[in-house]
Amino acid sequence: MSLKRCIILAAAAISWAFAGSSGEDLMTKHCTSCHMASNPTAEKVKHMVAPPMWGVARHLKKSLKSKEEYIDFVSRYIMNPSKERSLFNKEAIERFGLMPSMKGTISEDEAKKIAEYLYNTY
Ligand code: HEC
Repeated sequence: MSLKRCIILAAAAISWAFAGSSGEDLMTKHCTSCHMASNPTAEKVKHMVAPPMWGVARHLKKSLKSKEEYIDFVSRYIMNPSKERSLFNKEAIERFGLMPSMKGTISEDEAKKIAEYLYNTY
């Protein structure tokens, strides 16, 4: 194989790897360090720094009417968390503090991918 061909294939593989990050991969990378993906044990509850992901996701599904609204809300909130905008229970903010913004950590497209994954999963 020529060097040129080799470089083209390597570049294609790299761009595919980036484009191919699924909502689940992104969530595992950026969210579950704070929001546990599964039901926490009593021991883990003591060390929780944020409400579990499924709890947040299911609660929001009840408050937001359509999938579009859900994706819109979640992807905006995580880039710009605020007490006024929060739809999840206010006690969570009192207990854990406001969620830090994901701006600069993930792109808007990635935020939407994660939001869609949450909607489809929980
Ligand atoms: C550093 C810890 C931390 C990380 C990382 C984090 N969160 Fe949060 N998140 C919180 C805390 C604390 C709250 C509860 C307070 C609040 O609602 O702002 C919260 C609340 C939320 C809410 C509820 C919004 C509402 O109505 O109040 C959503 C949705 C959410 N997070 C999604 C995510 C997603 C998706 C990710 C990954 C991209 C993520 N979070 C990453 C700490 C975190």
